[in-house]
Amino acid sequence: MVRPISHSISSRSITQEASILCLIAGLFLLSCCGPDGNGEPEDIIGVAQDRTPYVLDVPDEFPEVKIPEDNPMTVAGVMLGRKLFHDPILSVDNSISCSSCHIPESVMSDPRQVSIGVDDQAGTRQAMSIVNAGFFENGLFWDGRATSLEDLALIPVEDPVEQAHSWDDLELILRNHSTYPEEFARAFGIETTDEITRDLSVKALAQYQRALHSSADSKFDRFVRNETFLTDQELDGFQMFFDASFGTLKDAECGHCHNGPFFTTNLYENNGLDPADRELNFPDLGHFLSTGVHSDRGKFRVPTLRNIAHTAPYMHDGRFQTLEEVIDHYNSGGHFSPNVNPLMRPLGLDEDEKAAILAFLHTLSDTSFLAQEIFQDPFE
Ligand code: HEC
Ligand code: HEC
Repeated sequence: MVRPISHSISSRSITQEASILCLIAGLFLLSCCGPDGNGEPEDIIGVAQDRTPYVLDVPDEFPEVKIPEDNPMTVAGVMLGRKLFHDPILSVDNSISCSSCHIPESVMSDPRQVSIGVDDQAGTRQAMSIVNAGFFENGLFWDGRATSLEDLALIPVEDPVEQAHSWDDLELILRNHSTYPEEFARAFGIETTDEITRDLSVKALAQYQRALHSSADSKFDRFVRNETFLTDQELDGFQMFFDASFGTLKDAECGHCHNGPFFTTNLYENNGLDPADRELNFPDLGHFLSTGVHSDRGKFRVPTLRNIAHTAPYMHDGRFQTLEEVIDHYNSGGHFSPNVNPLMRPLGLDEDEKAAILAFLHTLSDTSFLAQEIFQDPFE
């Protein structure tokens, strides 16, 4: 999907008379209307702000989405964010949008082991689903190095292996675009195109992403609400996952780290993927990259397990293609390192027990919410 970038300066709102006056004045003064006197016309947009609030319809089971005071959600803001998110204009060669790696049909995650940016460059990490990211308040990214959806959205645009653009150039492209100025005006009440900034762009992107929450209608949710039964196998898996069988089934330890409405504590843990000696020389330093604290080496944010059957491959480096491989990893106890969480130990699960955990993980699926328009590419 490649769209041409329009570089033509929009003159919608400058009346013809004003343009002619400006031209004449410009001929005499060699500087035309620009605030800085360098000959750039100040482009007035002339579209009023639309403050209609965007009302989130979050399931009762979920907490509230915390919305920053300086970025309230409006319909116009979310719609602008949706366009920006799905527009490859955010990449230097107009080839890669946010949704190239956060793909709607894959629950806004990436089915590839690691993400591929402009010029087919491979990154080092797997793109997780961003559905429900608006609820996660203990840092974003696998290592927690982004503190808000606003801050995070600045990063992919300039990441050399993702969109490889520069915000300075992108701001100019957006200011001179045929439709974006009106949408920025509607969303943020700006008057001139030079008020279009990276700051407002990431605000719109964050508003959009806060709107991307899941339903609470998986089989497991309905079971908790007493609306359906689990099969015996699913129930066994559930009881092993949360150690809820009063000792009659094995404890698989999962629920210590994967609990709550999104099946995550949102803490940073090491689940034994890689061995490391006392120097903690992990191949990916993980949470250390955001805190600089030695003991955070090789720790990663515990991910949500909602819709986990639909967001393969797994782990920060996408090393496991299937949930069976993930369960085998936990069953083995993983690799030892001084940072490994002590819950990691050989679980001794047999084939039936592993199959029961797998069956339970499948009860966390409900992708029906993806049919909502908000998840779709607005350009299609
Ligand atoms: C080239 C692929 C690629 C593109 C393009 C991309 N992302 Fe990502 N995204 C990733 C990867 C990989 C990660 C995980 C990176 C990490 O943890 O270091 C990620 C993580 C995220 C997260 C973190 C979610 C969480 O739970 O922590 C958010 C939010 C996000 N991206 C939003 C965006 C937005 C907004 C854009 C567009 C401005 C974008 N992404 C463009 C690949 C991409
Ligand atoms: C000590 C805490 C801990 C325990 C116990 C634990 N996990 Fe995890 N889990 C994590 C962390 C941390 C990650 C991400 C690790 C990484 O990518 O480096 C993860 C990742 C996963 C993933 C991949 C998610 C994705 O989006 O890639 C699945 C699936 C998973 N765990 C299932 C389970 C199951 C099933 C159990 C029990 C058998 C379990 N976990 C036990 C901490 C834990």
